[in-house]
Amino acid sequence: MDTRASLYESPVIIADREAWEALNLKDAGTIEVEIGFGSGEYLLRRARQFPDRVFIGIEKKSGLIKEVAKKVAIHNLTNIRLLDWCARDAFTYLFPACSVSRVYALFPDPWPKKRHSKYRLFSTQYLRLLNNRLITGCEALIVTDSEEYCNWMLKQLPGTGFEVEHSTIPPQFNTKFERKWLDQEFSTFFKILLKKTEHIEV
Ligand SMILES: C[S@@+](CC[C@H](N)C(=O)[O-])C[C@H]1O[C@@H](n2cnc3c(N)ncnc32)[C@H](O)[C@@H]1O
Repeated sequence: MDTRASLYESPVIIADREAWEALNLKDAGTIEVEIGFGSGEYLLRRARQFPDRVFIGIEKKSGLIKEVAKKVAIHNLTNIRLLDWCARDAFTYLFPACSVSRVYALFPDPWPKKRHSKYRLFSTQYLRLLNNRLITGCEALIVTDSEEYCNWMLKQLPGTGFEVEHSTIPPQFNTKFERKWLDQEFSTFFKILLKKTEHIEV
C-alpha cells in the first residue's frame, strides 16, 4: 500500500485543520519543514533534490503561498505542501512530538528595534517547542543577515536541548532575501545549526 496516498490526493495549500488531518503524515517518512519560505526557492530546490521526503512550507503571507503553490504545480512537485499558518501555531497545534526530521528558516524577520524584539520567533520558548517536534539527533538550521539577531538567538539556547554550531557563511541559498542583501553588498551571513541532543517536554 502507498502510505503517501493521502498526501498525493491533498491540495497543495493546507489552510485548515481538517485538510491537515486528511494529510495523515504518520507514515510519510522523512518530513522537512521550512519556516517563512518567502518566494519558495529553497523549498522547491530541496523538494526536487529529495523526492522521497515530504516538505512542509509554512508562510504567513497568503500572496506568497499562492505564488509558490503555482510554482509547485508548474514543476509538478508532489512532495510539497504549503501551510497557510503562523509558524508559532503550526508547531504548537499541528505537528506531534518527534515527528520532524529537519527544520530551517532562512533570513527570518530580525525585528531590529528593541521594542519589537518580543516579536522575534526563535525565543527560548519557541526553540523548546521546535526541539519537542524534532526527532532526536535531527537538526534545525537558521541563517540570518543580522549579527544582533544571531547573538540574541544564541542567548536563547540554554535549556532548549540543542547542541549548537554557529559560524559566518558566504551566500549559498539564492533566495530573494539573500539576493536582496547581496545587492546591498552584504556578503557574510550568520548560520546557527542546532542538533537535538536531549528531548524537551513542553
Ligand atoms: C525576511 S523574509 C525571508 C523569506 C525567504 N526565506 C528568503 O530567504 O527570501 C521572512 C519570511 O518569513 C515569513 N514569516 C515571518 N514570521 C512568520 C511566522 N510567524 N509564520 C510564518 N511565516 C512567517 C514572512 O512572511 C516572510 O515571508
